[in-house]
Amino acid sequence: MNSAIFDKNAIDATNIVGYIADIFTRRGIESYLGEQVSMAQHMLQAAQFAELANGPPELVVAALLHDIGHYSNEIPDTVLMQGTNNFHEEAGANFLADYFPPGVTEPIRQHVAAKRYLCATDRAYFSRLSQASVYTLKVQGGPMKPGEVVEFEKSPFLDSCIKVRLWDDEGKDPDRPHPDFSHYRAEVQGLVKNVAK
Ligand SMILES: [Fe+2]
Repeated sequence: MNSAIFDKNAIDATNIVGYIADIFTRRGIESYLGEQVSMAQHMLQAAQFAELANGPPELVVAALLHDIGHYSNEIPDTVLMQGTNNFHEEAGANFLADYFPPGVTEPIRQHVAAKRYLCATDRAYFSRLSQASVYTLKVQGGPMKPGEVVEFEKSPFLDSCIKVRLWDDEGKDPDRPHPDFSHYRAEVQGLVKNVAK
């Protein structure tokens, strides 16, 4: 693994986008949990589907960054210590929440919950899941129970979470061309909070 050009403990609003770009460059080639695509292919394709669907910038960026939490050793230890379970979706959302609005981070935080929700509510959805995703569903708690479905439907981000989840599921084609991170960089930068634009 190439070493980082940024210190993960010195990230701030002025360098967060460069840090993320650096993660894509250094770590993107890594395989994505038993899928045929690399991590970068997967996230870049998810963003591509969001863009093709005319998703708003928050959701394009959420799709682009939804699995950043898999790179747990790129996330400051102080952020990882905030988590209640440190699952990748929570670690990623907590990491990004200092820099991006909830419209970006909540669909990331809920993208596994959205899979569990769709498995419980949409018969056709389960049949579209990849083998690896079916396997992880078991580890993640299986389809939501009826009470969990009711709770999940109260989220103001319900539609966004479902959309990002569906783009996540689509972004698994090893032969599909897609833009690289630089295509989205300005859009990511435009959503960073507390920094002069
Ligand atoms: Fe994913």
